[in-house]
Amino acid sequence: MCGIVGYVGPKPALEVVVEGLARLEYRGYDSAGVAVLSDGKLQTEKRAGKLANLRAALKENPRSADGIGIGHTRWATHGAPTDGNAHPHVDNANRVAVIHNGIIENFAQLRVELEERGCKFRSETDTEVVAHLLSEELAERGDNDLGAAMRSVCRRLEGAFTLVAISEDAPDLVVAARRNSPLVVGRGDGENFLASDVAAFIAHTRDAIELGQDQVVELRADSITVTDYDGAPAPVREYHVDWDASAAEKGGYEYFMLKEIVEQPRAVADTLLGRVAVDGTLTLDEMRLAPHELREISKIVIIACGTSYHAGLIAKYAIEHWCRIPCEVEVASEFRYRDPILDRQTLVIAISQSGESMDTLMALRYAREQQSRVLAICNVNGSTIPRESDGVLYTHAGPEVGVAATKTFLTQLVACYLVGLYLAQVRGLKFGDEINTIIGQLARMPEQVDKVLQTVEPVRELARSLADAKTVLFLGRHVGYPVAMEGALKLKELAYMHAEAFAAGELKHGPIALIEDGLPVVVVVPSREGRSVLHDKIVSNIQEIRARGARTIVIAEEGDDSVRPYSDTLIEIPAVPTLLQPIVATVPLQVFACELALAKGNDVDQPRNLAKSVTVE
Ligand code: G6P
Repeated sequence: MCGIVGYVGPKPALEVVVEGLARLEYRGYDSAGVAVLSDGKLQTEKRAGKLANLRAALKENPRSADGIGIGHTRWATHGAPTDGNAHPHVDNANRVAVIHNGIIENFAQLRVELEERGCKFRSETDTEVVAHLLSEELAERGDNDLGAAMRSVCRRLEGAFTLVAISEDAPDLVVAARRNSPLVVGRGDGENFLASDVAAFIAHTRDAIELGQDQVVELRADSITVTDYDGAPAPVREYHVDWDASAAEKGGYEYFMLKEIVEQPRAVADTLLGRVAVDGTLTLDEMRLAPHELREISKIVIIACGTSYHAGLIAKYAIEHWCRIPCEVEVASEFRYRDPILDRQTLVIAISQSGESMDTLMALRYAREQQSRVLAICNVNGSTIPRESDGVLYTHAGPEVGVAATKTFLTQLVACYLVGLYLAQVRGLKFGDEINTIIGQLARMPEQVDKVLQTVEPVRELARSLADAKTVLFLGRHVGYPVAMEGALKLKELAYMHAEAFAAGELKHGPIALIEDGLPVVVVVPSREGRSVLHDKIVSNIQEIRARGARTIVIAEEGDDSVRPYSDTLIEIPAVPTLLQPIVATVPLQVFACELALAKGNDVDQPRNLAKSVTVE
């Protein structure tokens, strides 16, 4: 999830673009860059790190611009966050510059073809292929039609992308294209803007145009032309933005967390992008472990903290079921102090959103000292944990600003499933078509999460009605148990309430004594399909607590009428395969905790005493 800005008009383009980037830094901040046309010549500047580094470079090396410029703030997906991998990327003649948000799934194939035709690549990014393709297309056409060149290139790309390009061949034009990635145009007076979201240009105009899928926009100072990829005029939605600049950064939401919750379908979809190679096999981002090493693995240990630990607990069910490898899950802070039994045949999976949690880092260093192989699941490209691991699978959730993890949790789950399937593939435990069936089920998850988000209003109402509760208990079984733990953690983090999760089967061994009249108890019910025994047992558990006065809040799949008579509140979620249920079941719990905290007047983006990334032990 990167931020992009484009400008055409009479103002100093560089200033407009850099100011726009500052408003988009929340979308990514591992590197930033700009491209401008200065006296008809293309000039670029880019720097790893925060925007301040780019500003310093521009100060050192000032340049004028002819009123046309593009800029990018990056959240790395392909290639580490270095100066070289920062956007814009240019063609070999240095006449075309491109910035990109998204993932081009077939970039590896395109890169091979371009290299065969003599192109020299200067970065490890997927984006650079577009600069070379545009350059080739412009040379072939010979008519300087950058818009037509962009349409033609887009027809060859797979994946999700917003692309923006400028060229010395078309000095009055900014061209952008969109597929499954955001792009809005700002209509000004004698000037026009484009960006990933309106925050970038709201200081200049509030008249916006939202592009549809598979559309290309050609932006000149006095005209905006939108077509489909074949060049036919395309319908767009024009609207007036009534947020101010600070609300715009949050997409109109009061808190980043609210925005991040609704971004989950996109985050899940992005995390699945580019994982299946042309031959149908799964690929990971960086795997410095050979297949034969993975075949030697006799045990898996997952280490993580907080929400990431809960993702690990869910991963255990999937990995053991699909791969039949024993899998332990441990909070990272406990791991190395208990003298764990590790060897070369142990695969340690370190899950960390930030890639910087000290507890997880220390645990992984310990594991490597014991000769174990380490695989990281991480959201921040180039952070310490993936750098120190033997392999890494990145979650493509984009930056998460709210301290309490939401979208990164869902994408960690997706990553864990992918790791499980990858191991099953490498070890020959599943046929390709079985793996593809599960990938297909995962591919439907964004839609299912979206469905949950469309129907959570009653959850909000319920949360508001419980703002004065002292305690909320959570129960679950199987993968629903870690989901219950995550629900309880969210409530503690955000609403500062006592919340505890139990395995529903353990209830009778003690926790049932806590049940008293009116006590809210949230129960995550497993799917009836495939786990009918567990399902029926938890229905009995619900009856037991209700008989003792609990106020039952039941999360069950739609159409599960067996729970209806015992539910004071029934929250329905889509019916999905059992192992994947956490992806949908967690969402109402995030909304519940967030809304309850808001009802108490808490700041959900920065809950008291917490930090997004804890870099001390
Ligand atoms: C902190 C955050 C939690 C997070 C945990 C692990 O405690 O407040 O929300 O789950 O760190 O962070 P990591 O970046 O390693 O996933």
